[in-house]
Amino acid sequence: MREKLEEIKSAASRLIEEADAPAALEELRVKFLGKKGELTSILKMMGKLSAEERPAMGQLANTVRAEIEKRIDEKSAELKAKEKEIRLRAETLDITAPGKPVAIGHKHPLSIVLDEVKEIFLGMGFQIADGPEVEYDYYNFEALNIPKGHPARDTQDTFYITDNILLRTQTSPVQVRVMEQQKPPIRVIAPGRVYRSDAVDATHSPIFHQIEGLVVDKGITMSDLKGNLLALAKRLYGEQTRIRLRPHHFPFTEPSCEIDVSCFRCGGKGCPMCKGEGWIEILGAGMVHPKVLQNGGIDPDVYSGYAFGIGLERLVMFRFNIDDMRLLYDNDMRFLEQF
Ligand code: DAH
Repeated sequence: MREKLEEIKSAASRLIEEADAPAALEELRVKFLGKKGELTSILKMMGKLSAEERPAMGQLANTVRAEIEKRIDEKSAELKAKEKEIRLRAETLDITAPGKPVAIGHKHPLSIVLDEVKEIFLGMGFQIADGPEVEYDYYNFEALNIPKGHPARDTQDTFYITDNILLRTQTSPVQVRVMEQQKPPIRVIAPGRVYRSDAVDATHSPIFHQIEGLVVDKGITMSDLKGNLLALAKRLYGEQTRIRLRPHHFPFTEPSCEIDVSCFRCGGKGCPMCKGEGWIEILGAGMVHPKVLQNGGIDPDVYSGYAFGIGLERLVMFRFNIDDMRLLYDNDMRFLEQF
């Protein structure tokens, strides 16, 4: 029996030493010390020993049990320490490693120029007004002196929601909406999206942007219009810029004009940018028609005003030398990253 116990002890020591995981150790604990374990089965045979032999064997068996327990505990601590070390090593963070760069966007070219124009007008005491893109026929046409059947409607075909509700073709309806809300002096710009049923090409889009301007007060004349828009042109294209007023017709202004700026590329001598003209058209303008003032609830005998409408896309294309309007809507990063 003594031999048997010594055998168990050395076998246990060897196997414990070889164990490489806590689960394996647990198996050994059951194998040797468990209820049906090897040591237990030896102890069960104690009864067959003589009374003299029993105490010595009992003591030896206890020492063996204690020894095996101690080994298992030591090994278990060792394995746990090793496991922890492996885990710590795997979880090490290199806090000096460079982070993943976050791509930062920036303003779209349309917003860059629009913000600049807003800034210029805010500096001249204008406020920014807003109006709906889904608009009544009344505000988009009727109140602007473009009755049903007027030929001006042909050039501004749009998307109709009902006979009387449409996607606005111009920002001009905001003029009447502002006049209804606000008494003179009025000094506003109204930037926004407009719609026309145009086919897409290099210079047309069914959705584009305009910036409307409206000034109404006592004694406003064409020279106010000219002075203010010359100031705008100089701010946008440089101090040397000149403007030219060409007679034109818009139903909601009288007199009406188109305004050209001296070509910012050639200074007016003529080049491919201005198609040899020396001038580039940037907006339509005029003195607000008395009927339009009336429709806005303003007495044309007391007040006068001027209005203008700028095509934002044109400004942007000239500004950045872009020859195809579609680029502004394509969301191609290779294009947008250039601004
Ligand atoms: N609404 C006009 C258009 O879309 C542009 C315009 C011309 C606006 C003259 C005005 C103006 O306010 O006075 O063609």
